[in-house]
Formats: sequence, structure tokens, C-alpha cells
Amino acid sequence: MNIFQKAWYRTYQKTIYAVSPFLAWRQPKLLDLEGGIKDLPKFIKEQGFGSVMLVTDPMLMKLGMPQPIIDGCEQVGLKLSVFADVIPNPTIDIVEQALQIYKDGACECIIALGGGSSMDCAKAVGARVARPDKTIPQMKGILKVGKKLPTLVAIPTTAGTGSETTLAAVITNSQTHEKYAINDHALIPEYALLDATLTVGLPPHITSTTGIDALTHAVEAYIGKGNTKQTKEMAEKAVKLIFDNLVTAYNDGKNLQARENMLKGAYYAGAAFTRAYVGYVHAIAHTLGGFYHTPHGLANSVILPHVLEWYGDSIYKKLAKLADIVGITGESDEEKSKKFIQAIKDMNAAMNIPEKFDAVIKEEDIPLMVERAYAEAHPLYPVPKFMSKEELGNMYRKLMA
Ligand SMILES: NC(=O)c1ccc[n+]([C@@H]2O[C@H](COP(=O)([O-])OP(=O)(O)OC[C@H]3O[C@@H](n4cnc5c(N)ncnc54)[C@H](O)[C@@H]3O)[C@@H](O)[C@H]2O)c1
Ligand SMILES: [Fe+2]
Repeated sequence: MNIFQKAWYRTYQKTIYAVSPFLAWRQPKLLDLEGGIKDLPKFIKEQGFGSVMLVTDPMLMKLGMPQPIIDGCEQVGLKLSVFADVIPNPTIDIVEQALQIYKDGACECIIALGGGSSMDCAKAVGARVARPDKTIPQMKGILKVGKKLPTLVAIPTTAGTGSETTLAAVITNSQTHEKYAINDHALIPEYALLDATLTVGLPPHITSTTGIDALTHAVEAYIGKGNTKQTKEMAEKAVKLIFDNLVTAYNDGKNLQARENMLKGAYYAGAAFTRAYVGYVHAIAHTLGGFYHTPHGLANSVILPHVLEWYGDSIYKKLAKLADIVGITGESDEEKSKKFIQAIKDMNAAMNIPEKFDAVIKEEDIPLMVERAYAEAHPLYPVPKFMSKEELGNMYRKLMA
């Protein structure tokens, strides 16, 4: 990467940073309903809506998690259409199927119950409703929606993506294996409902990987050049909450305090990165999701320590600050920073997350994945140090077992 390219990327990022305070930032209104999700249909009816679509996935349906919402709709006479076919790494086809259900039911608003996949699918449906003139690929990138979505209530069941507070919806094109984000302030949900009891049944391997996804959001936002005072604070709080609670939530899923703290941590991390962006960990993870259906959290968990090591001294100072926050001591910023990365590795090991991808990455796919990760990261992500295409290729090879 030559100095002109680097200068152009930094100029682009500085321009976005300068414009950012004038954009339509907001956070979802947090719903605190006495009866939790059971009371949501009543709340929606009170807002003047007559019909709603629920977007969720087959596993949650099987577990009966949406049942209180279904029963509540019946009780208050709110017309309900259910789309329960969301898949992990949701595709354009899935979004279009859900959109059809929305139209068939003459729905007026949307409830998303699930992990990032359900919430993102619901956001993408909302974007298609707001912009019937645009396809999903036409809304890829930043600020391509620009119109108000139908009211969306996001209820996360993982802790997690933070999608309940972010401006992003990540969608996969199953034909081209491309996975990309639609980023627009219109996609920030109007309401979010954080209920930790919905996460107590999350299996350990999903608890761990989705938890490290949240940590990745906080760390990538924090080490980047796109921070505000508020995103820094949010990221610091998230890192502390995740370090203090993730392994407990993994080992003792019924520990409601740990679950609550993780849900908060994921929310803060989402609030940090929605404004301060992510970085190469996510750019690489998205290609693995698109090519091999690698679950998003797992991809980030494996990649995070490798990319942090690659950044080297460009992030010592910031990681040393995070080390201080989680109680890691050392003589110098370098030592603290290295210990912080080691602590992430130890956390991964304690939760049975592998150090590399076993039999996932194929050498022949690397050139195209490099192109896509490069295009996702540049010029948008204000990463602490730039990776060339060659260095990205080496990173993929390093991730191979
Ligand atoms: N919009 C954003 O800001 C944003 C940020 C990060 C990631 N993402 C995207 O979100 C998606 C990943 O979302 P995710 O990691 O939350 O996982 P997910 O939504 O794909 O769910 C993973 C699995 O966990 C199961 N599950 C979820 N909650 C459960 C519960 N409480 N009990 C039992 N099983 C449960 C689901 O049924 C599913 O099988 C990816 O597509 C990723 O790219 C979006
Ligand atoms: Fe993520």
C-alpha cells in the first residue's frame, strides 16, 4: 500500500469523522415492561398499531421462546404474522421471503426476537419496506437507505452482536458468497428490550463465541481512530463487563447476574462500534461467513488475537489502558498490551475456542477473500495501522491450522 493510498484513506476517514456529529445518531428507547416480552403486544397496540410481524429463527421457535409474544398478540387482538425461518448469516433470499410475509400480513411494524441474524433480517426487511425502489445489494455500504423504517422492536437473545442498538444489518449474498453490511441511521431500532432471562438457555459454545464478538466490537472500536469521548467510555465499560462475566456465563449459564452483565456489555460494545467502526477482524470474519458459513462470533474469536498481535506497537498504549481497566498489571505499555492479548487467548482456551481454523480456509479462496476484506476495510474503517493485500493474505494463511 503506497503513501498516497494511505493518505486518501485517512482523508476519507477524517471527513466522515468531521461529518459524523451532524448525522442522525440516536439510541433505541429501552423498554422496561413489567411482564417482559409477554407485555410487548399490549405496548405495541397502545402505540396505535393493528398488525405486527415477528421475525425469529427455527431454533428459538422450537424452544418456545416467542410463545409469550404469540399468546400476548392473541390476548390483545393484535394481528400477528410470523417469519421463523431466519438462518445464521441471513441471506438476501431469506430477507425477501420475510418481506413477502410482511406484505401478505399487511404488517405495520416488526418485532425481532433472536440473535444478530434475526435482528439483521428484520432490519433488512424494514429497509426494503422503506425503500421498495432499492434491492438489498443497492443498499450495501453507508447511508443508502435514508428513509424511516417501520417501527422495529429488537429483542436480543444472544449477548452478542449489539444489533439492537447499531445502524448495521449484515446480509449475505448466497450466489456470490459476499457478506456485507447495510449501514444507515434509519436502521437503528426504535425500541430495544433487554431481558437477560432470554439468554440463560444459550448453549455454552454460542455464549462464548457471541461474547467474544461483543468483545471484538469494543476492542476494534477502541483501538481505531474513530472514537468520541462517549464511544471510548462505552468500549471501556463493555470490555470490563465482558472480562468479568463471560467465562462465568459460559460455565454457569443460569447465573442471571453474569447474563445481565453480558447483555449490557454487548449493548455498550454495539453503541461504541456503531459510531467508531470495527476493523480488520470483522472484515476477515465476514469473508469467512460468506464463503464457509463460519458463525460470526466464532470467526471473530479466532481472528481477534492474531490481528491484535499483528498491530504490534501501534496499539500498545490503548491495550495497556484496557489492561488497567480489567486489572492486568505490567511494567510497561508493551508488557500490559501483550498480557491483555494473552488474557483473550486464555479466555478463548478456557471456553474451548480453537486457536486456528481447522479445515475451513482453502488456499484457492484466499485471493478473492483478500479483495473483499480489503474493500470492506478501506477506506471506511479507521484502523490503527493499515494492512496491505499481501499482509491480509498472510493473515488468512496464519489462521489456517
Ligand atoms: N447488525 C450488527 O450490528 C451486527 C454486529 C455483529 C454481527 N452481526 C451479524 O449477526 C449475525 C450473528 O448473530 P449472533 O451471533 O447473535 O447469532 P445468530 O443470531 O446467528 O444465532 C446463532 C444460533 O444461536 C441460537 N440462539 C440464539 N439465541 C439463543 C438462545 N437464547 N437460546 C438458544 N439458542 C439461541 C440461534 O437459534 C442460532 O442457531 C451474523 O450474521 C453477524 O454478521 C450484526
Ligand atoms: Fe461482530
